[in-house]
Amino acid sequence: MDIITTTSYEALSITAANYIIEKLNNNPSAVLGMATGGTPTKMYEFLIKDRIQNNTSYQNVTTFNLDEYVNLAKNDANSYFSYMNKHLFTHIDITKQNVFIPDGLAENLEDECKRYEQLLQDKGPVDVQILGLGENGHIGFNEPGTPFTSRTHVVELTESTRQANARFFPSLEDVPTHAITMGIASIMNAKEIILLVSGKNKADAFERLLHGKISEDFPASILKNHPCVKIIADRSVLEQSSIIA
Ligand code: F6R
Repeated sequence: MDIITTTSYEALSITAANYIIEKLNNNPSAVLGMATGGTPTKMYEFLIKDRIQNNTSYQNVTTFNLDEYVNLAKNDANSYFSYMNKHLFTHIDITKQNVFIPDGLAENLEDECKRYEQLLQDKGPVDVQILGLGENGHIGFNEPGTPFTSRTHVVELTESTRQANARFFPSLEDVPTHAITMGIASIMNAKEIILLVSGKNKADAFERLLHGKISEDFPASILKNHPCVKIIADRSVLEQSSIIA
């Protein structure tokens, strides 16, 4: 794993955005794996800025989102469908047909997971997968204990994940209990992975990632087995870390 440390969240976001822009310049029909949540929002801002300034085209880009809540309407402000439209898709020239997000309202969720995994196989592999890090070490919504062999599946969110995400919802009760997530094996299939780590609340997970053993109890630890992972971490994480100060 390559570790890039930045002086601020802003610098982390520019570094990640520039990396993606360079990939798109080299391969305008790249397949990107997208994350949601708090960490990548500024990276998306920089992608939009670049789109305005340099006209980087997304017309032939394909995107796969990591996950989606179960039982939220697409137009619910907290669905990841809405998140992606708000933070990126409505600001770039992406082709709607090339955007893939699991359907958390599908009548048969198991079938939806199979359909999504098949799409990943057919249109993939993902060239660059963006990931955030859960405080409990989750990647996507693969909570501790998820088999490393998992493919796209329905997951029951842990209490700690629901609490961490409650900041986006009116109250904790409004946070969905389940989600569809790409599995760990689905994520590991990407050619390259960029893990963004920002915020003091991620310091323990970051330290465990760097120095702990590879174990299903800590899903992100599997990234150590991937041949091409870049971790971009900002100072707020490092200052809390007893290892790198
Ligand atoms: C989001 C996702 C999650 C988040 C993680 C960190 O699509 O799959 O794994 O990346 O929960 O979330 P933030 O960035 O809000 O701290």
